[in-house]
Amino acid sequence: MAKIRSQFICQSCGHLEARWVGRCSGCGEWNTFEEERVAPRTATARTSETLKPTGKPVRLGDLDLVRDPRTTTSISEFDRVLGGGIVKGSVVLVGGEPGIGKSTLMLQLAGKLAETGRKVLYLSGEESLAQIGMRGRRLGVEGKDLYLVVETRLEELTEHVKAIGPDLLVVDSIQTMATTQLQSTPGSVAQLREVTSALTQLAKGTGLPVFLVGHVTKDGAIAGPKLLEHLVDTVLYFEGRHGMPFRILRAVKNRFGSTNEIGVFEMRNKGLVEIPDPSRIFLAERPEDASGSAVVCTFEGSRPLLVEVQALVSPNSYGPPRVTAIGVDTSRVLLMLNILEKRTGLKVTGSDVFVNIAGGVKVAETAVDLGLVAALASSQLDVPIDQGTVLFGEVGLTGEVRAVGQAMSRLSEVNKLGFERCVLPEGNLKTLTAEGEPMPDIALRGVSTVADVLKQLFGKTT
Ligand code: TYD
Ligand code: MG
Repeated sequence: MAKIRSQFICQSCGHLEARWVGRCSGCGEWNTFEEERVAPRTATARTSETLKPTGKPVRLGDLDLVRDPRTTTSISEFDRVLGGGIVKGSVVLVGGEPGIGKSTLMLQLAGKLAETGRKVLYLSGEESLAQIGMRGRRLGVEGKDLYLVVETRLEELTEHVKAIGPDLLVVDSIQTMATTQLQSTPGSVAQLREVTSALTQLAKGTGLPVFLVGHVTKDGAIAGPKLLEHLVDTVLYFEGRHGMPFRILRAVKNRFGSTNEIGVFEMRNKGLVEIPDPSRIFLAERPEDASGSAVVCTFEGSRPLLVEVQALVSPNSYGPPRVTAIGVDTSRVLLMLNILEKRTGLKVTGSDVFVNIAGGVKVAETAVDLGLVAALASSQLDVPIDQGTVLFGEVGLTGEVRAVGQAMSRLSEVNKLGFERCVLPEGNLKTLTAEGEPMPDIALRGVSTVADVLKQLFGKTT
């Protein structure tokens, strides 16, 4: 029997030290080291982590690539986030707060695949077979080729995979799994790392796609070392706002697709339902004739999305002014406030400013700038923006409005949702007109400066 020794692992980045140190030389965090008792690895425990060497280099042109190694999940919002379906041998980590619906999503996914004749092994270390079974019934999941097992030992899991030979493996959750090779408890950094790399090895070696459910910590990161995210191919977050039935599946890392894609679902009493038309729900509760609200057209991955930007500019009576933003970068808001004030003379700095993107979406695209400017100005002037108006466009430091990509797709979305007016960069309008793009149902208003925007929206020439 090999001798057990102890080592210290940074709980933040997974860096190893032989003795306790106060500050991690790996990630620079303080007080993150914890002792873990480990049995030394057997010689075979760690072969290549992910890939097998191929030997002699081959010419790219000679490569015989499998044409489409992806399996569609029949849940198009899911496929979209994955980048077009499940890739053979890929490892996908699905993170989210407890109760958000990770197990529900995984069971529905498992059911969909099983329906199309694929074998799925769903392994749970969190719930009893009866609980999973009841959920499955409620979701209407047909169970012919869906195998359920309750297990927390990695070695047993490997045996089950061998015995069943599934086309997909779901592990719910990675924090409950442990290898008997290590003495430390399930969920500890050493276990997480060992189990994840073993499963990654299994996936790469056999081509079996693996979905790992991961819990998140209070500050929203997947519990465990950051390194966990490096070991897997794809990291998805399943998020939602408390009290709201909408759930957003977002890729934060994807070796096989874009990380900008989101999938939108609604949690109903029979499980998660896809929302193919999310603009409608994000705008559903928009207040009528209230100042500080602007609708903007942004791109989330390959899809245009209309969202409501809300701003509240309120006089600051004591202390330094604060800027708080939810769903959008605070520095972008600060930038827009300063440009607005400098270029139009509208006094907005020195006030407390709150900005929120309604519906819990996060926007990162600069085309949202015009929406920010419009919502901030509307709040400060206390004049509502016309209900039928949508904006998009980037704002530069001199207050100029710059053209953005995909103007035509944005306008189609604006049209689809019945808006009548669109304020857009003059540059985009020129190109569209030159190309003779028809958009008869929307009145297009080209703007080239932030002052133009205020004039268009509020008739102001500050
Ligand atoms: P669950 O998938 O267990 O969450 P997680 O695995 O992320 O912890 O989902 C739990 C919540 O979802 C629970 O509060 C009940 C709700 N729910 C529904 O509203 N409808 C359903 O059909 C199901 C299965 C769950
Ligand atoms: Mg669960």
